[in-house]
Amino acid sequence: MTAFELIRALAYDAAIGIVVTDTVVDQPGPTILYANAAFGQLVGRDLSDIVGQTPRFMQGKETRRETLDAFHRALASGERFHGYLTNYRADGSKYRAEIDCRPLRATDGRIENFVSFEREVVRRIGRPAVSAAGRYEPVATSNDPLTGAWRELAIFKHA
Ligand SMILES: Cc1cc2nc3c(=O)[nH]c(=O)nc-3n(C[C@H](O)[C@H](O)[C@H](O)COP(=O)(O)O)c2cc1C
Repeated sequence: MTAFELIRALAYDAAIGIVVTDTVVDQPGPTILYANAAFGQLVGRDLSDIVGQTPRFMQGKETRRETLDAFHRALASGERFHGYLTNYRADGSKYRAEIDCRPLRATDGRIENFVSFEREVVRRIGRPAVSAAGRYEPVATSNDPLTGAWRELAIFKHA
């Protein structure tokens, strides 16, 4: 079983959005190979409109170029990207996305795919936080049966 197959099996009924791409970092890549139902709901599109696209389709006026440059650098160097981006849904509405994107490596170390875990977050009300980690909170708390698995993988955990 490849890492992609394992992720796909876990992603199927997960409550967080999960999307897998190929490894082509530069335009016109990366290409989305798989997205779970929660990802379709998050971005407000049918899965058939998502697979085959580049994740750039979610970007718009308020998507920060500096953050995208950091994302690009992380992908190009095979590192994890964990950050917050303004994404847009098909109906034009925007949302703040927490994105935890990692390379999926074969046993020989070669990167075979990228996988991204994504959820909507909102600004936390109350005392201002200095770090992005404290500034946002997820809009939904889920009782995903896979919560333990995500914890093992340190999904959305700040390094
Ligand atoms: C698995 C995966 C998921 C991604 N999800 C998003 C996303 O939700 N929103 C977004 O703006 N970019 C996302 N990206 C990043 C873009 O595909 C692209 O890498 C980014 O725009 C930086 O590259 P660029 O400078 O060539 O545009 C994702 C990339 C990968 C590999």
